[in-house]
Amino acid sequence: MGNVHVLEHPLIQHKLTFIRNAETGTKEFRELVDEVSTLMAFEITRKLPVREVNVQTPVREAKSYVLAGKKLGLIPILRAGLGMVDGVLKLIPAAKVGHVGFYRDPETLEPIEYYVKLPSDVHERELIVIDPMLATGGSAAAAIDALKKRGAKNIKLMCLVGAPEGVEKITQEHPDVDIYLAALDEGLNEKSYIVPGMGDAGDRLFGTK
Ligand code: PRP
Ligand code: URA
Repeated sequence: MGNVHVLEHPLIQHKLTFIRNAETGTKEFRELVDEVSTLMAFEITRKLPVREVNVQTPVREAKSYVLAGKKLGLIPILRAGLGMVDGVLKLIPAAKVGHVGFYRDPETLEPIEYYVKLPSDVHERELIVIDPMLATGGSAAAAIDALKKRGAKNIKLMCLVGAPEGVEKITQEHPDVDIYLAALDEGLNEKSYIVPGMGDAGDRLFGTK
């Protein structure tokens, strides 16, 4: 299916099991989302370009490598995407963070934009949009639209769990965007929740209900 990559690292899969578990409380849920986000970021950044430099070690000069290419930007979709920011920043602490706010209208399920605040050089950055859930794909597609409208060209999407419906929507509307998931689930239920999913990610992260 399209540009979707399921990150099958055993540690990601192990931690995802506890994230899914309905018995997992807010504190542990938050910690696990943070940890999985770090592990996913490690996998996603595997192919970042590097350039050769010389470094003087205490012993002699050595050839070594530093990151090259575009600077990175993280774009959490409010609110649940916030739970993944710190985990990614542990690996790429210099990334700038832009925020886009969408919620799903409970009746129409359409994403409603309520906040957009981006780094001014967003058009020059390689962006990673982050959100735990890719359900219908409405929120992520709208977030990517909002970024492209402001000049962004280089965008990846990273979610913990995706449904085939959401993957299909992003693949159709944004074929240039690679999608990274910890799991591709079976589908959506009548309320457009991911099945089996993890329930309401925002509520579980922030303890609301
Ligand atoms: C959730 C989730 C995604 C969206 C996914 O957010 O964090 O942003 O739903 O659903 P979709 O793919 O069908 O658009 P929600 O709207 O519940 O808002 P919240 O993060 O503020 O809880
Ligand atoms: N949003 C969530 O938080 N969970 C789902 O399963 C779908 C959308």
